[in-house]
This record gives sequence, structure tokens and C-alpha cells, in this order.
Amino acid sequence: MNDPEISGTDRSGLSESEQLERIKTTVYPDAESGSVAVAGRIAGLIRDKSGRGKTTVLGLATGSSPIGVYEELCRLHREEGLSFADVVTFNLDEYYPMNPDELQSYVRFMREHLFDHIDIPVENIHIPDGRLERAEVYSYCREYERRITAAGGLDLQLLGIGRTGHIGFNEPGSTRDSRTRMITLDRLTRMDAAADFFGESNVPRRAITMGVGTILQAREIILLAWGEAKAAVIQKAVEGPVSEAVTASFLQEHPSADCVLDAAAASELTRNRRPWLVTQCEWSDRLTRRATVWLSQTVDKPVLKLTDADYTEHGAGDLVTEQGPAYTINIKIFNELQHTISGWPGGKPDADDTNRPERALPYPKRVLILAPEPAADVIGMGGTIRRLVEQGHEVHVAYLTSGGKLVSDPEARRFVDFIRGIGSLVEDEDEVTRGFALQAIRDLDEKRPGVVDSEAVRRIKGLIRQGEARAAVRLCGIDDSRIRFLELPFYDTGRSRNNPLSDEDFDPLVALFDALKPQQVFAPGDLHNPGSTRRMSFEAIETAKGRVKDPSWLSECSFWLYPEGWREWDLDEIEMAVPVSPDELDRKSEAIYQHQSQKSPTPSDAVGKSEFWQRAGAVNRALARRYDQCGLAEYEGIEVFRRWRPVGGL
Ligand code: F6R
Repeated sequence: MNDPEISGTDRSGLSESEQLERIKTTVYPDAESGSVAVAGRIAGLIRDKSGRGKTTVLGLATGSSPIGVYEELCRLHREEGLSFADVVTFNLDEYYPMNPDELQSYVRFMREHLFDHIDIPVENIHIPDGRLERAEVYSYCREYERRITAAGGLDLQLLGIGRTGHIGFNEPGSTRDSRTRMITLDRLTRMDAAADFFGESNVPRRAITMGVGTILQAREIILLAWGEAKAAVIQKAVEGPVSEAVTASFLQEHPSADCVLDAAAASELTRNRRPWLVTQCEWSDRLTRRATVWLSQTVDKPVLKLTDADYTEHGAGDLVTEQGPAYTINIKIFNELQHTISGWPGGKPDADDTNRPERALPYPKRVLILAPEPAADVIGMGGTIRRLVEQGHEVHVAYLTSGGKLVSDPEARRFVDFIRGIGSLVEDEDEVTRGFALQAIRDLDEKRPGVVDSEAVRRIKGLIRQGEARAAVRLCGIDDSRIRFLELPFYDTGRSRNNPLSDEDFDPLVALFDALKPQQVFAPGDLHNPGSTRRMSFEAIETAKGRVKDPSWLSECSFWLYPEGWREWDLDEIEMAVPVSPDELDRKSEAIYQHQSQKSPTPSDAVGKSEFWQRAGAVNRALARRYDQCGLAEYEGIEVFRRWRPVGGL
């Protein structure tokens, strides 16, 4: 049966819980297994067509999403004889302007991740050329289209999705019929690319991209999305209206498009987020809480005022049948929410802790706050850090990486000039300082924007962030001797991509755990893209936890996860909510403000946008409002935490 709104897509195979999904979605437990499955499909297509003496025409994407697919294709070539001799490829896009040798060029990306490792003939590879003169672009794009057609059209198009909902670089506003062309990149896209270019100001403002119409002409389309950061836009693309505002939604009109997701990227789909709206549910405590809080927000009533009719009219009738009447559910959820709130994040000494999120004893506690990079700690839990200190706990902070990749060259240059100045002040005594500064200046002067940093420059950038981190946590009352910079080597690659984790990353963490034997640990808990610094930091911490010498302290320690400020957690995810007063929120902003290297690169970039020190406060206020709307106490802001669960086990 075809839905008239989504002509062309056969939805007959959809299960009850997938009924709102207008693009076929396949969810894998993790990116690794999803990537292997997709590579298997591509290999099957190539083998089938080659077996029939035909060429396979692939449309390819760059970015972090397809890397696992390319790795597996390379392995299939190396170990299982998969040949690409009969494959022709067309890449989606390239930045403009862009030289193919640059670190961020998609030509270079494709060579490093795929083409240099397989037997594809060079003449079969097509990637938009970022070196053209402006006047040449139009005819070049028409020629690109002509070549796709001449090759027989795309058999399969691989896509990622940007947070703006773009496919290729078809930013919001791109029409369904758009063809290969030059496009201006959205601000959010440029922000997401900032790490690759060592600063937003270095990200090109334009790109050449296949159009939506070009993509939709592929016979088969696979869109890949991994990690929580993609969850919201995937929900819009898959379940929202077809719209130029989210160009991936046009895939709803394609007869053979498939979204391949990991569990985190699928987490906002109705079947996962609000399953009671589409199917019969097993009402776990958590799901009951989610439904009740959602209902209270949807009908705009405090939890204690929800009625049986509210539940039944909003798809949760069977919850009332199972656990009702409404008032019984309401009071249970109200109490649960109430018990998440605590002004004593380290536990309240001499108090009954039966219904408190953190146990009272031992008091004071040795607390360890782990941050993937400077600023994550104060953004996620700046108010709570202060409280822990004020309430007498011994608070330590450890930064896993320097975060230096997010410092711009002009910022580094300012500091190097300063160091040189110091060097000349103490000329005789400290030739070494001067020499180092001069080297860094030479490196920076010779460096073109967006090129890999020298060792000296990396050191400087790391130091800049260390200084900011110290200034920030000092404001929270933490002594310098309790701040550690672990500088895990997976991060220090000189390029935006990280290296795989190794023992050298785990060892410093294990040593820290063994030395400190903390009684309470806070770590960042949002699941980002595989390979991202935050995700890898989390994985490193998990592995290190399993390797400690004397694990006896682990059972005495409570492990908490804090959010990283960019997403408001749902109330059912929250297991500890720490109120933050107006003054505390001001002081938190002041602490975040110390991370000056993270401000917008130019005043015009800052126009109309809340700056980094303002965003965290806005999230804390929004969370407080949600507690308030549910009928709980009205606080200025709330910082939230959940208990640690393994990766993927949200
Ligand atoms: C890349 C491309 C983009 C990316 C998208 C997601 O060729 O066309 O649409 O697929 O920006 O990027 P990642 O995978 O890095 O999250």
C-alpha cells in the first residue's frame, strides 16, 4: 500500500513501530557493524555487475560517516579479492576553493581512505574540482552531470547527513530539482568543519556539490548516520515533512533509499523516543516516566494534574489500564522526579540518603572530574563543581586531551609574541624560551591556513588551553595541584582526525585511577560520532576502568555522566538534578568565559548567535523550566547527571 504523501516509496514492509518512518531505516547496534553491512552491500553490487560484464557506478561521500565503510571495502579488496577495476565513482562534493593536496581536500580524503588502497583505474574517479576559476564553474558542473549520465547513471549513492539536514552540500533551501552547482555553506556546517580546518575562519565559504535532483536519480541510495549528534536531524529527515529546510527529507520520495543508523542516531525516532504513539509498549519505569513527562509538556499541565483522559487521548491509554488510575502514575512520577533533585551532589552528610541520588558516606569524598578537553567540565557541570568544593569534598579535575586543535593560528601567534617578549626580557638566562618562540613564529608565518601544525605550535596551542582551563576551575575553587593534563596521544596527531586508541592512552588513566582511588567520578556522557575526541575519551575511560590494578575501590565509587551542554537531556534520562541559583549561574558563565580561545573568530561571526559562555546557561535554564512545568520547584537553572552505563546502553 502506497501512502499518497510519499509516492514512490513502498512502505508495505514496515512494522507497526516504524509506521511514521517515511524512509526505510535499518538500525545497527553500532557504527562498526552498520559499516560492515553497507560495505557488504556495495561489494555484492560490484560482484554482481562485474560478473555480468558491467560497470558499477558509485556515488561517494566524504566526512566521518563513511570511513568505516571504506575501511571494510579496502579489507575486502585486500583479503577477499574484491576488484574495483570495473567501478566508476563520482564524489558528491568538494570545498571551493580547494587545492587537491590540501589536508582538507576531498580528493586527498578519498585517496587516503579508499582510492590509494584499491585497484580502481584513476580515470574512473571523478571528484568536483576546487581549483576552477569562478567563470568556469557553471560549465564544469554541467559537464559533471553529463559524465554521470554517460557512465550510465549512479547505481548506488552513499550519503552522510549534516546537522543542517544537508545531503552532499545541499544546504537548507536547495530545491528538489537542483543539479551540480556552487553553493554557499551554512554557518552550522562551517562550525562543524572548524576542527578540520583548525578554526572556523579557515573553512571555505563555498563548495561545489551534486544537486538534490542528481542524488535522487541514483538507483539506490544509502544514507549513513552515527552518533547522538545526528539523532535530531535524522528524526526530521525520516519522519518530518518533505521540505527544502531539511534536504535529506527528499529521500522520502525515492523508491529505494535506506537510512543506515547506529542506535544513538536512531534514538530520536518515534519508535524509540515515544514508542507508545506507534505500538503497544512494555511499560518499564523509565518509559513510564518519559511518557508522563512528555504528556505533561504536551498538554501543558503539571504532572499531578494529568487525568485518565489526558493519557488515553495521547496514545498512553494502556499505561493507565496497566498502572492507573492516572493519579497513581502521576504521584509515582512526581516523587521520582522530586528525588532526582539534590543540592548536595556529593551526598548530604548526616542525612537519610534513602531517596537521594548520591549516598551520604563517605564524607568528604575524593571526587574526580574527567573532561575530554578543557571547557567540557565547566560547561557541563560548572555549578556542581563549585558546590562540591564548597561542601568540603576533595575535587580533582583531569583533562584527557589538550583541546589545542580548536585554537586558531592568530590566537597562537599572540601568545608566541608574548613568550618571545618574555624571552627577551630575560635574554641571557633564557635563550631556550626565545629559541622556542622564534621557531613557533617561523612555523606560524610559513604556515598556510588549515595546514597541519608543527610540534612547537601544537605545544603552544595546548598550553593556551591549559591556561584557560586552570583559570576556569580556579574560579570554581579548585587548587592548581588538583588539576591534571593527561595529554593522551590519540589526540596529538597534528591533524583533525584522531589516532586509534592504544595502551599509551589507557595507561595514564589507569595510573590516575590507581593513585586517586576516587569515591565519586564524573565523566562526559554524550555519544558523539565514532572517532570524535569526546567519544574516544569516553571509550578510553571505560577501558581504563576495566584495567585498574586494585578494583576493590570501584564498587565503593559512584560514577556519573554529565552532558556537554549542546543537548538538553530528557527528564527520564536524568538521575541527579543539581539546582543552580542565579548567582551560581553567573559564576559558571564567568568560568566558561575563561576559555577565550573558543570565542567566535570575528565580531561578525558572533552577530545573532549566543556565544559559548551563554549557551550552557541557556540549557540549564531550559532544564529548570521543564522541571517547573512538571509542577516541581522553580529554580533558575539545573545541571543534570545520569548514572554510568556502557557505550550504546543509553
Ligand atoms: C560529504 C558530504 C556531507 C557529509 C555530511 C556529514 O561528502 O557531502 O554531506 O556527508 O556533512 O558529515 P560527517 O559524516 O563528517 O558527519
